Amino acid sequence: MPLSPEDIKSLHKYEILILKNIEKLMKRYTWVPEDVLRKASGLSSQELEYRLGHLMGRDMVKSSSVPYKGYQLTFGGYDALAISSLVSKGTISALGSLIGVGKESAVYEALGTGILVLKIHRIGQRSFQSVRLNRSFMPEWKHFPWIFASTYSAKQEFEALKALRKGGVNVPVPVAINRNVIAMTYIAGLNLNQAVLENPQDVLEGILENIKKAYALGYIHNDLSEYNVMVDGNEVWIIDWPQWTELTHPNADEILKRDLKNITGYFSKKYGLSYTPEKVFEMVVG
Ligand SMILES: Nc1ncnc2c1ncn2[C@@H]1O[C@H](COP(=O)(O)OP(=O)(O)OP(=O)(O)O)[C@@H](O)[C@H]1O
Ligand SMILES: [Mg+2]
Repeated sequence: MPLSPEDIKSLHKYEILILKNIEKLMKRYTWVPEDVLRKASGLSSQELEYRLGHLMGRDMVKSSSVPYKGYQLTFGGYDALAISSLVSKGTISALGSLIGVGKESAVYEALGTGILVLKIHRIGQRSFQSVRLNRSFMPEWKHFPWIFASTYSAKQEFEALKALRKGGVNVPVPVAINRNVIAMTYIAGLNLNQAVLENPQDVLEGILENIKKAYALGYIHNDLSEYNVMVDGNEVWIIDWPQWTELTHPNADEILKRDLKNITGYFSKKYGLSYTPEKVFEMVVG
């Protein structure tokens, strides 16, 4: 469900306090018991009940009555905490409209120092299992609430954007990260799949140059396609990096080849450019 900026703006300080306490206690409890939450937040039973009512009405908290009365954050509550932190730190002053919804993210425009984009990571339960298996993320926690996997995914993307940007790859500039939300610069361009290119060859070579630079820095995109490239005239940006792969990955070559095949295949189909995958691969790793 998309976020409501109004709901986030209208959060009372006690409601933020409650969200933060549930977040903290979810490391120990699958369902945070009501009495534990009351002690941790220091609110009266009456106030707590009233505020929880608001939070549940906005789908930020959900409750269970078995085996005992307890509470959990929803994705909405977790997103709200991240965004209100970005607001209180001054990174963003306003949340704008939704510009993209993917399988595992929602992307909003926002106002900060210039126009920004907020990418909210939402890793579902199934891919969380594989994230967890892959990298033993936070293994010391007794319970691992799956909403926190999104924070891991956001971190992966943020770190990659930082390193890639520093190394001269054309990616959005990462501005800030909080929990599962990344703030980055807005790209005034079109997704490659929506663009009609005047100089397709220049654009393809621009993409390959960026992939080559990323490879030299140790990054393989691992989800490269016409949907994750943005263009403006001849300028290109490569976006959407959370699933990037290291060169030491046992299937690194196959993954890179698949990335390259997606791109050369697209240019061949749409613009009749024939670049042989083998040559392109040599060019990138060479
Ligand atoms: N920095 C940006 N500037 C402008 N538009 C952006 C920016 N980042 C993302 N977008 C837009 O939002 C869309 C979705 O973003 P992105 O590709 O990063 O995530 P996703 O495809 O939802 O992720 P997933 O592959 O996990 O589903 C992009 O296709 C693009 O149109
Ligand atoms: Mg994408």
